[in-house]
Amino acid sequence: MKTFLHASDIGPLEQALAEAREIKADRYKFETLGRHKTCLLIFFNNSLRTRLSTQKAARNLGLDVIVLDVNQGAWKLETERGVVMDGDKSEHLLEAIPVMASYCDLIGVRTFAGLIDRKADYAENILTQFICHSGKPVFSMESATAHPLQAFADLITIEEHKTKVRPKVVLTWAPHPRALPQAVPNSFAEWMRAADVDFVITHPEGYELDPLFVGNARTEYDQMKAFEGADFVYAKNWSCPGVTNPADYGKILSRDMDWCVTSRQMAVTDDARFMHCLPVRRNMIVSDEVIESPRSLVIPEAANREISATIVLKRMLEAL
Ligand code: CP
Repeated sequence: MKTFLHASDIGPLEQALAEAREIKADRYKFETLGRHKTCLLIFFNNSLRTRLSTQKAARNLGLDVIVLDVNQGAWKLETERGVVMDGDKSEHLLEAIPVMASYCDLIGVRTFAGLIDRKADYAENILTQFICHSGKPVFSMESATAHPLQAFADLITIEEHKTKVRPKVVLTWAPHPRALPQAVPNSFAEWMRAADVDFVITHPEGYELDPLFVGNARTEYDQMKAFEGADFVYAKNWSCPGVTNPADYGKILSRDMDWCVTSRQMAVTDDARFMHCLPVRRNMIVSDEVIESPRSLVIPEAANREISATIVLKRMLEAL
């Protein structure tokens, strides 16, 4: 595997899930695979789970790890070509990438959407430069449009906790005080479409996700109706994807607190498990009682980030 951005990069999901069971049974089974190899993790944006779980995964495989926080201790990087660099950015990504690549064998990149220019965000401008100019396998640690390590961990979590062959999984929008990217819901939708689940998306009108990720997934604008009989509820905020109105891209269209997931909505589910990628704003996205209930999976879901990252790094090492 040379790049990891989409569900299709991992190949058949059944095989990936079998690998997850294998790694979970013995996460050090491949501890010599990364010997004398180095994984570079580059963060343009903040992280807790991705930063820790990916380092842990790399060490499970015997890899050395270098972590770089761009803009904190490194030179500020210019990412656009053609810019007269007379501002505060001292180095261009086009020099920085091959230099960084010369010190490592694998590269993970976290680079969020700017939420101003839809075309640039959906072209994955920064991640694409790493893929084109590093000469190394590159994986997304949440890029402008996708968070595949999270979606893979979410799938593993659903697989571990499902009690039906084909569970009903509901992705629900929920309110947030700041405009957030669409990466998590995009990837979750993409991976759920590839999995054997009954998948429904619910959100206020105007929040339609990009067809590249949602395909023909069922959308239900009535949140209570969407929740009926659900086995898994996955809550997430996202800003306007600009699908129906490009001028609204990155904007907050609704602050309706009725969409916050509480026991009111959970009551119409089939005793659903609650999921969220974290970090989560309590009593905006989800009530205290729902996230603290025994039906909440937010901690096992975060723990599975180590497993999804171990599999992705393992696949990349095997393809070197
Ligand atoms: N879910 C997730 O990616 O968490 P972090 O932003 O803390 O890495």
